[in-house]
This record gives sequence, C-alpha cells and structure tokens, in this order.
Amino acid sequence: MSLLIRGGTVINHDHSRRADVLVDGETIAAIGPSIDPPAGTEVIDAGGCYVMPGGIDPHTHLEMPFMGTVTADDFESGTRAALAGGTTMVVDFCLPDPGQSMLAAYQDWRRKSERAASDYGFHMAVTSWSKQVFDEMEIVVKTYGINTFKHFMAYKGALMVDDDELYNSFARCAHLGALPLVHAENGDVVARMQEALMARGVSGPEGHAYSRPPEVEAEATNRAIMIADMTGAPLYVVHTSSREAHEAIARARAAGKRVYGEPLIQHLLLDAGEYESKDWDHAARRVMSPPFRDKKHQDSLWAGLQSGSLQVVATDHCAFTTEQKRFGLDDFRKIPNGTGGLEDRLPLLWTSGVTTGRLTKEEFVAVTSANIARILNVYPRKGRIDVGSDADIVVWDPSATKTITAKNQISRIDYNVFEGFSCVGGPAVTLSRGKIAWKDGELRAEKGDGRYVERPAFSPIHVANSTWKQQTAPQAVRRAGATP
Ligand code: URP
Ligand code: ZN
Ligand code: ZN
Repeated sequence: MSLLIRGGTVINHDHSRRADVLVDGETIAAIGPSIDPPAGTEVIDAGGCYVMPGGIDPHTHLEMPFMGTVTADDFESGTRAALAGGTTMVVDFCLPDPGQSMLAAYQDWRRKSERAASDYGFHMAVTSWSKQVFDEMEIVVKTYGINTFKHFMAYKGALMVDDDELYNSFARCAHLGALPLVHAENGDVVARMQEALMARGVSGPEGHAYSRPPEVEAEATNRAIMIADMTGAPLYVVHTSSREAHEAIARARAAGKRVYGEPLIQHLLLDAGEYESKDWDHAARRVMSPPFRDKKHQDSLWAGLQSGSLQVVATDHCAFTTEQKRFGLDDFRKIPNGTGGLEDRLPLLWTSGVTTGRLTKEEFVAVTSANIARILNVYPRKGRIDVGSDADIVVWDPSATKTITAKNQISRIDYNVFEGFSCVGGPAVTLSRGKIAWKDGELRAEKGDGRYVERPAFSPIHVANSTWKQQTAPQAVRRAGATP
C-alpha cells in the first residue's frame, strides 16, 4: 500500500525543505517538491505541518520487575502511549536477575515484547560478573543484535555493580564493539545517606532527594568516564540530571573522549520543590533516581542540548501506580523509583524547547531521534526522513494544543507528573513503518504491530575513543581487556 504525505516541510537533523513524501509499504520511496502518486495512493494533507522522523525513546522500563513490584505499563500500553505522542521506537532494558543467564532474560523480554505496537529494541543489563556473563555478552551482540550494555552504579544489594565489574564489562564491550551505558550514582554513598536520614526520622519522599545529591551523581559520572577511558570503551550516561554530571561529560568530550549524555524531559521541566509537597502521594509519585533538581541544573541541561555536549532527550518511562508508590509510606527507600513520560516527551520538548527558541526544529529532531539512531547504530534506517528509511514518520502540527491530564492518557497509571502542563505542537499523524498508528486523536496501532530491531555491533574504530587511540604502551595493557 502506498501513502503520500503532501505539502509539508520535511525536517531532518541537518536539513529542512518543503517536500512531499511517498511511502511504499514500510519504507520511504520518494521525496520531492511535487510527487504524482500512483493510483490508489492514500493522501495525507500535511499543509502547515512538519514532517519529521518518529521519535526514538532509548530509555524505557516496560513490564519490568523492580523494587518488589512490576512497572504498570507493559509493551502494549507503553508503545501505544508512545505512538500517540509521536514516538515510533523504544529501547527497553532487559534486566537479568543477578546470577540469571542473559540468554534467559532476553527470551523473557522477547516474550513480553510480542505485545508491542511500535518497533522496539533492547539494552542488556550487566548485573554481575562471571565467565558466563563474559561468554554470553558475545552471543547477545552477535546473535541477538544488542550493541549496548547497561550498568547500574546504584541500587546497592540489587542491581548495583562495583568498579571491578565495571572495568571487566567495559573492556568486554570495547572488544565486542558494544557501547556501555551507566546509571551514574554512587550506590554505597546513597545507602549510607539513606540510613542516616532514616535514623534522624526523615522517612518521607523528600528523604529520597536528600539522599541523592548532585555529588553522588557527579562522582559516579566522573568515575565511569575514567574507567571507560582506561578500557578503551565509549560511554553513554543515562538520565544525566545535574550540572556537575553534565560538566564531567562536557569535559570528557572536550578531551576527545567519546562520551554521550541523556537528560530526561522530567529533569528539564520539573524541580526538587515537588518533593517538599505536603501531599505524600504527590511527592512519592515523583520519586525517581536521580531525583529532580533545582533550576541551575535545569539551565545546565538545556545549555548542554543547545551546545551539543548532551545529545538525547529520553523519558526513563518506569511507571508505577499510586498504590505501588504507597509501598514506601513509612520508608522512602521502599517507594518504587520511576516516573512516566512516553506519551508527552515530544509535545513537552517542542513547547519548552522549540517555541521558546532554545532549540531549532532541526535540533529537536537531533535530540529526539537522529542522534540516538546514530549512537545506537540504526541510522539512517531510523531517525531520518530519506529514501530507503523506515517510514516511521510524525506529521507535526505546530498549532495543535493540549493540556496534559491523566484522565486522557494511554499510560495505565492514575496520575501524570506533568498534569496541567499546556503543550503547543503535537502529532497530527504518526506512521509506524508505513502504517497509520495515530491520526487526528484516534489511536489505530494494535498490539503486536511492533517489530524487534536488531542493532549491529560497531566497528572497533568507531568504538575506540580518541584518547585510547592515541596511546600506545598503556594500550597493550588495556587491550588485555576483561578477564572472564
Ligand atoms: O528511578 C528510576 N530512574 N527508575 C527506573 C530505573 C532506573 O534507574 O533507570
Ligand atoms: Zn537509572
Ligand atoms: Zn531507567
């Protein structure tokens, strides 16, 4: 089936032009000033609209067991919410339990994701170190098409890995042509601060924020950057929330290290004052790690997106209901960590970024799809409007308006941390590999429409970061790499 998007302005990260876009089946077949479509082609009028690559959210936790419960959105509700908001691909975290085989965890995630309405991929988490992990990482990259491995430097006693495990895993990533990801917070220090706060009687959600100051994030970010450099691996820092962590990334990049940073839409727009609410539910619903920060940190994150020292805006969609949050009524350490945002990321970023002049339309495309497609090695199949690319397309109406409310959302949770935010600009139509998934407020995507996206390993040249390449003698040691 073919489909013509007529009369819009095509926005890529590097170029914009007035053009029609012809979709044939699942891919883009032609782009030109005035396309005469074959008979029977469905025409979408994009007059006054922008035609952009569908969003890619590289950070979601769908149907994930965590902190004694399971996230409320599964691959069906999460990806349907994504498509309603213009996001056409998510990358979810496959989490083996400590000691569980990565291969078994992968099979679990493949089973859960059969319900996905949009395309999806996985990052694989390294939650312990052993010969089995060393061996399975190769299978994960070469057989399963996963080129990213996640490491939690926090969540002591659960998912956290230590420096020895980080070093080994990063070195293994460098060898395999994979990219390590880190949740950068010093989990040992967080645990001590949590104990101290509880001992002083601070048991409410504000204790969560007090126990995770910017320093614990800055220390871990710097440490991960240095360890990655010593193993010859690049590094992707998820949910960068503080000025100090951003500065560590910017410093590393200025020194030639290949390090990427990912602020969340939550950290760009919501601040630490949320935890001071007298309404326990309100504050607990916003408990996530790292916590929301104050304005100076938000300003720094925006500056990073504007200058290019931060590359991606994600959501870390990890949604828990109020009932689940109440597991921590007497002890903030038991409040499941996580917030939602999949449906709202694009409209919120357009409103706060493009309509304010902070970001150009091209920069919006860069930080919502093109940059992460390149970082994850799926570009230009994803993240670009071009002939041969997948027809993951959002027809963006800059005059659309919406006030965010949980009442109308697709996510299964009973609240929205952006409740009452007004958005200007939104998706009129979302195409997912050529199929209309969302049009004029109607969700047409169905469970199972999504497809698993394999991501090939990087070449060693791409993986090697520049300070590593310049070194010779230490290099011999570093190339020895991980020990199984
Ligand atoms: O609080 C958060 N971010 N929950 C999801 C798990 C993680 O750390 O990414
Ligand atoms: Zn995290
Ligand atoms: Zn996360």
